[in-house]
Amino acid sequence: MKHSILSANGLCKSFAHNGGQVHVLSQVDLELYERDFTVIMGASGSGKSTLLYALSGMDQATAGQVMYGGENIVDAVEKRLASLRHSDFGFIFQQMHLVSNLSLLENIVVPGYLNKKVSVNQVKARAEELLQMMGLSHIKSHLPSQVSGGEQQRCAIARAVINNPKLLFADEPTGALNRKNTTEVLNLLTDLNQSGQSILMVTHDIRAALRATRLLYLEDGKIVGDLPLPDYSLEEEKSREAQVNAWLSAMEW
Ligand SMILES: Nc1ncnc2c1ncn2[C@@H]1O[C@H](COP(=O)(O)OP(=O)(O)OP(=O)(O)O)[C@@H](O)[C@H]1O
Ligand SMILES: [Mg+2]
Repeated sequence: MKHSILSANGLCKSFAHNGGQVHVLSQVDLELYERDFTVIMGASGSGKSTLLYALSGMDQATAGQVMYGGENIVDAVEKRLASLRHSDFGFIFQQMHLVSNLSLLENIVVPGYLNKKVSVNQVKARAEELLQMMGLSHIKSHLPSQVSGGEQQRCAIARAVINNPKLLFADEPTGALNRKNTTEVLNLLTDLNQSGQSILMVTHDIRAALRATRLLYLEDGKIVGDLPLPDYSLEEEKSREAQVNAWLSAMEW
């Protein structure tokens, strides 16, 4: 039995443009479930990032509801949204947005220190565990500019999960990485998911989409496809790729 973690009802987002309105999301209804690795695909401009930002409270929807833990976060004040971003949600972006004059370790612990629910020692212990998991322990004192793009993104992932978020949001997390670094980052996201982390990720990359346990397809601001998949395993990647490719063709991707 799947447990709902977040749901959108009649979600709309419009932008003012050239004196008119651009309707990007139109009446999106969506339920996200715990432990799923949900991946949103769709053509460029279909509204994927807009949906991710509206669902996470990073940007305010124009109409509709986003229910999280019994609360409609569309109506939440900025202070409450900031608290949700610290304690309940984690974020990863294409550009890692690491703080350039802080070491990798310092980048990872900062959101932990801002979280009043845990002690400094707990944050430090969790950071060491994450550095180990991300294969960054030996370079934890380096500045972001002194490590590769893949290492920076692994650091950004560690920072995003330092507070054990209920839901991890990722917008094109492999968009700026080469093939090898993409695989490493996807393996880490898969490991996190298979240890129980709920993830919502937007991607263009079929290799990233293969890690999904649920694939959604967005077209003109509406969800037009919803494909459940078993947990990813390398042995089954070939057959999974064929299935996902066939589904994407049916979606006219
Ligand atoms: N602040 C804004 N003002 C006006 N229009 C916007 C704004 N943000 C996004 N849009 C428009 O909304 C549409 C959807 O944008 P969005 O960034 O969500 O697409 P996307 O599916 O994430 O695309 P991509 O795959 O290229 O990242 C686009 O047509 C875009 O131009
Ligand atoms: Mg986008």
